[in-house]
Amino acid sequence: MAFKVTPWEVEGDIDYKKLVREFGVNLIDNNILNKTKKITGQTHFMLDRKIFFAHRDLNFILNEYQKGNKFYLYTGRGPSEHLHLGHLMPMKFTKYLQDKFNVKCYIQLTDDEKFLFKENLSLEDTKKMSYENALDIIALGFNPKNTKIIINTEYAKTLYNQAIKVANKITFSTAKAVFGFKNSTNIGQIFYTSMQAVPAFLESVKQGKNIPCLIPHGIDQDPHFRVARDVLPKLGYLKPASIQGKLMPGLLENGKMSASIPKSAIFTNDSPKEVKEKIQNAYSGGKETLKEHREKGGNPDIDIPFQYLKFFFEPDNKKLKKIEDEYRNGKLLTGELKQITIEKINNFLEKHRKERENAKKKIDKFLLKD
Ligand code: TYM
Repeated sequence: MAFKVTPWEVEGDIDYKKLVREFGVNLIDNNILNKTKKITGQTHFMLDRKIFFAHRDLNFILNEYQKGNKFYLYTGRGPSEHLHLGHLMPMKFTKYLQDKFNVKCYIQLTDDEKFLFKENLSLEDTKKMSYENALDIIALGFNPKNTKIIINTEYAKTLYNQAIKVANKITFSTAKAVFGFKNSTNIGQIFYTSMQAVPAFLESVKQGKNIPCLIPHGIDQDPHFRVARDVLPKLGYLKPASIQGKLMPGLLENGKMSASIPKSAIFTNDSPKEVKEKIQNAYSGGKETLKEHREKGGNPDIDIPFQYLKFFFEPDNKKLKKIEDEYRNGKLLTGELKQITIEKINNFLEKHRKERENAKKKIDKFLLKD
């Protein structure tokens, strides 16, 4: 079945095996899992479950770390809308890596990107949304001592001075081949990838020596970092390493949770009632009738509420397995599974809203400005 994954468009039922071949990333295997476990004492459930399933140069990062050479983390968000649950995944995973390895982290909010790529948004809109998104990110528990948030237009002098060096090494034909640009594409879009490359070597610029960088992100962003990995050695920097996540599915039958399709997504600012309604209407792997469900069981592999538990909301592997088994054998009904998921999401969001309020007092400590 046809599917499409680019930094700006994700469509259809994603075949991750095919994507790994096409993008040229490596699967997270047991060797890497064991190595991570040796260093950190345990692995995150998102790694165990292969939700963060692929990487580039993660071995290099772990080897350097074991030699005492610390890396730094870099992740980001394009502030077009409020965050949805899928966006929280790489952020939460990054926070986990930061805690376990005790390293610095940059988070880039690309108000310039969303202005250039979304016809209906003004620069004021995307700048305002950068602040809104920053609050949600800070609410996940990041510490301003070792986490810095970059809003691109607010840190433009520093970023631009480095981005032009990146841009100098990328031809239009490369940009076209990687991102599919056309003659009608505005030229800001063509330049943009150079801005996303900068935090991948910014710490090396600041410290005046090469510091390894690890980028956790959803697999859709990989094309940017493919380009960055080509260019940075030409500027004397290391290739950034990365770890790629699968995309949380949308509420509808096909496709990822996407902010540009509001019906597909649960946003961090949705009310408990909205969450309830959305999950009640979500695509289910249950059977048509109670009798049939009890006899044949449901299919958790295609069941969206179950997938949300697996991707994010049930970190306990044993509890998840019990839910999965009972759903598969028909003991657990669709309505019951939905109820469990609604409660989990609403509990999470209730706490999240409080932390988001607290974040308002802290935001200035996180923001880099020049
Ligand atoms: P954006 O805003 O599209 O997405 C932010 C992060 O969330 C991931 N993501 C998802 N993860 C799981 N399930 C989903 N349904 C889902 N949808 C999106 C994305 O892969 C991304 O990791 N250009 C970037 C912003 C950016 C960035 C970065 C992202 C700048 N520098 C460095 C990652 C790393 C963007 O528009 O992301």
